[in-house]
Amino acid sequence: MKKKLIIANWKLNGNKSCIFNFLNLLNTYHDQKKDKLCKIVIAFPVIYLYLAQQFFLKKNIFLGAQNVDFNLQGAFTGEISVNMLKDMGVSYVILGHSERRRYHKESDNIIAKKFKIIKEANLIPILCIGENKEEKESGKTQEVCIRQLQAIISMLGPHIFNNTIIAYEPIWAIGSGDTAQPHLIQKIHRCIKSYLKKYRMIDPEKILVQYGGSVDENNVSVLLNERDIDGVLVGGASLNYKKFIKIIDIVNQL
Ligand code: PGA
Repeated sequence: MKKKLIIANWKLNGNKSCIFNFLNLLNTYHDQKKDKLCKIVIAFPVIYLYLAQQFFLKKNIFLGAQNVDFNLQGAFTGEISVNMLKDMGVSYVILGHSERRRYHKESDNIIAKKFKIIKEANLIPILCIGENKEEKESGKTQEVCIRQLQAIISMLGPHIFNNTIIAYEPIWAIGSGDTAQPHLIQKIHRCIKSYLKKYRMIDPEKILVQYGGSVDENNVSVLLNERDIDGVLVGGASLNYKKFIKIIDIVNQL
């Protein structure tokens, strides 16, 4: 069985002192567990990544970014490049999150361009896909997920999915406390993996499919008991140190 992965997405939350506290506590926890700790990626707001880098150097905890620009440099006010993220010790980048698709009008095309620049920089993309409530109710979940994957494949070719992470995040489950049922998530994860497996250039062993959407310390264990859920992407519950450690403890015991 592949090792389960926990990804924390802090979104637009936190400040210097609370992140400092969180890092201190997590550092101590890491020192107690050492090799027994499962793999963890934390995506703090980008401005705090430098602080986090000082804590996790040489440790089994990795830094993620919540966004990146598809340009490498130039007159693009307010943007952050892959190389800047690498300077901050980042190894993973979240893209295609429904909040960016919705509030920043990021199209499949923009997301594919970001995917490309992330891969070219040897960073690991965490591609979020998933349906909204109406699409779910009209039975279009699989169609939506495949369409979002296909947008990347059409621009970059199927091989691009090797060494990547896909996060299935039903939009209606994000921040709602309403997690999708584990056996239904399992079905979608299976469908995603089978779809990618059709392409001979993709090695299924080199892809992780995470679930995200109201994951917390109470549901993580049932979710991860499903065969094709390779890990979780945690938003709200990762902001609370106690909840987050509980989640890590549960995953460590699996
Ligand atoms: P949530 O967020 O855990 O708060 O639902 C997950 C996400 O948006 O990645």
